[in-house]
Amino acid sequence: MQAVYFNGRWIAPEEANISAFDRGFLFGDGVYEVIPAFNRRLFGAGAHLDRLTRSLDQIDIQDPLTRAQWMDVLVRLVSECGADDVSIYIQVTRGATAKRDHAYPNPPLPPTVLASASAIVPLSAEIFTKGAKAITVPDLRWGRCDIKSVNLLPNIMARQQAVAAGAVEAIMVREGIALEGAASNLFAVIDDELLTAPLGPHILGGVTRNRLVDMVKDQGQIPLLEVPIPFDRLFDATEVFMTSSTRDLLPITRINAHPVGTGKVGPIWTKLSKAFTKLKQQRET
Ligand SMILES: Cc1ncc(COP(=O)(O)O)c(C=O)c1O
Repeated sequence: MQAVYFNGRWIAPEEANISAFDRGFLFGDGVYEVIPAFNRRLFGAGAHLDRLTRSLDQIDIQDPLTRAQWMDVLVRLVSECGADDVSIYIQVTRGATAKRDHAYPNPPLPPTVLASASAIVPLSAEIFTKGAKAITVPDLRWGRCDIKSVNLLPNIMARQQAVAAGAVEAIMVREGIALEGAASNLFAVIDDELLTAPLGPHILGGVTRNRLVDMVKDQGQIPLLEVPIPFDRLFDATEVFMTSSTRDLLPITRINAHPVGTGKVGPIWTKLSKAFTKLKQQRET
């Protein structure tokens, strides 16, 4: 049985128990990260660890491991997982204290640290040939969506609504702006320009998003704008796709009851998806 990294030790998953007074359990006082490996090679680990450090920093939890220690943990998890394509989950909380108090304990507690790996279950091939459906939902989240907090209730409610509607993702709409998915970033082709929301407190700065933005800018073939996408303009899009570390570029060919463009996967998604796959094969981290 594959081991998990838990508070500095490698143990069997069933031995990884937290205190009932852990602040992650009581308050959702913690952050997480999801890091992929493809063909047993980590992809984007540096950027994911940067984001973890930033999330921790934003809520005043000291990063419990150095960069080199995190890398050792990630490499061991990939090699022990046994699958070619692996998703690594890291969670760090503010630790456990018997006294329930909203304010951060002073002095700080030792954080609770978990890292585990599982095989990435691929989406059906049909989704990438025919495209998938998304729905739009009101964004019920808080004002710091840039922090990868373990408080995911609005996200899981949105994703559940999507599943109930036969869709793969929910697009969050706040004050008339289509921002991102429940667990992915949003791109739309409108008037031959590729649009995605600018970084800021209302979206998570996706590692896939950022890498794709850099790739498109480097290529210089498709005009790319990091601007808010008005909800009603979403229905003028000729192509829409959503990005995340374990789903790459997911083509969306239907939003609510409306086909996107021709209702088929489009040429820009096809081109970028191929280029992104190539990038994944070339780059180690
Ligand atoms: C809200 C949200 N936006 C965007 C993303 C995509 O981020 P990444 O590309 O780093 O996986 C995620 C990933 O889980 C997410 O939860």
